[in-house]
Amino acid sequence: MAGKKLIAVVGATGAQGGGLVRAILADPSGGFTVRAITRKASSDKAKALAQLGAEVVEADLEDVASLKKAFTGAYGVYAVTNFWEHFSPEKEQAQVRNMADAARAAGVQHVIWSTLEDTRRWVPLTDDRMPTLGGKWKVPHFDGKGEIDHVWRDLGVPTTNLLTSFYWDNFIYFGMGPKKGPDGKLNIAFPMGDRKLSGIAAGDIGAAAYGIFKAGPEYIGKTVGIAGDHVSGADMAAAFSRELGQKVGYVAMEPAAYRALGFPGADDLGNMFQFYRDFNDDFVAARSLETTRKLNPKLQSFDQWLAANKKAIPLES
Ligand SMILES: NC(=O)c1ccc[n+]([C@@H]2O[C@H](COP(=O)([O-])OP(=O)(O)OC[C@H]3O[C@@H](n4cnc5c(N)ncnc54)[C@H](OP(=O)(O)O)[C@@H]3O)[C@@H](O)[C@H]2O)c1
Repeated sequence: MAGKKLIAVVGATGAQGGGLVRAILADPSGGFTVRAITRKASSDKAKALAQLGAEVVEADLEDVASLKKAFTGAYGVYAVTNFWEHFSPEKEQAQVRNMADAARAAGVQHVIWSTLEDTRRWVPLTDDRMPTLGGKWKVPHFDGKGEIDHVWRDLGVPTTNLLTSFYWDNFIYFGMGPKKGPDGKLNIAFPMGDRKLSGIAAGDIGAAAYGIFKAGPEYIGKTVGIAGDHVSGADMAAAFSRELGQKVGYVAMEPAAYRALGFPGADDLGNMFQFYRDFNDDFVAARSLETTRKLNPKLQSFDQWLAANKKAIPLES
């Protein structure tokens, strides 16, 4: 352990942080050790990380004192919030302030903050192409993150802003996989017209974050956008057709129809896809495949991810 740099990972039992924990543990000669942060060390996911060799420490993003303890002695911190647990940008922002306060108090030398664009820079609240949500947001799970980026800088914490992308894993866990239409044929549906979705295998996010820590100070003070691929709905449907051995179509639904689907967060996601569609050039340009591959040489394209994961994707009727 002596001489190794400790990375404290928030969200270690989750998709992003879990990928980083595994990337660090898979590289024992890489010069880093890892502390996995969770609210519940006795959970199966936390126990699995301990089994792999991670130090597991309890802390809560709502409790700044617990974060200060968990960050003490760390060279680096991976900072992520989970919007989908509470659907509140205000709560996310309070948690980010807690992490920034704790990182400053603990003298952390490099934070990677997992963020997204504040879409209101492109779609101000006065723009009625999409509804304003919660009184002050267009895409709440994006805007709340982007709006609070400054807090790390304000506190003088050396930080890299990591702009993440849509997880391909949503096809497995978020009900976005091919579904049978009334004609019995499989379709995927996104309100994105013919524009491109920037996506990534969730595990590749942590692996890219590891690349950023390994690069030393190179990315401090910078925003790094990552993606594994930029693919249109038609590209994805063609890949599904090839891999599943049956025709999968692409339905370019209207954003308003997506918002009306009614599941929790449908309005937020409908606005998100509309933002991807209407400002596609900016969104894609902010996520360089070349940089992502430099950070994570094992980065998967959509086709590679689908070939490896097709059996796990539920085909709902
Ligand atoms: N799905 C996508 O396509 C996508 C794409 C880009 C960005 N994102 C963003 O990714 C974020 C979620 O990250 P993820 O997918 O890695 O999460 P995840 O797999 O759902 O896991 C959530 C993690 O957050 C931890 N956590 C939640 N609340 C906490 C608290 N109060 N204190 C301490 N830890 C807490 C959980 O730890 P314990 O339960 O063990 O305590 C768990 O490790 C969301 O904010 C979302 O907006 C998602």
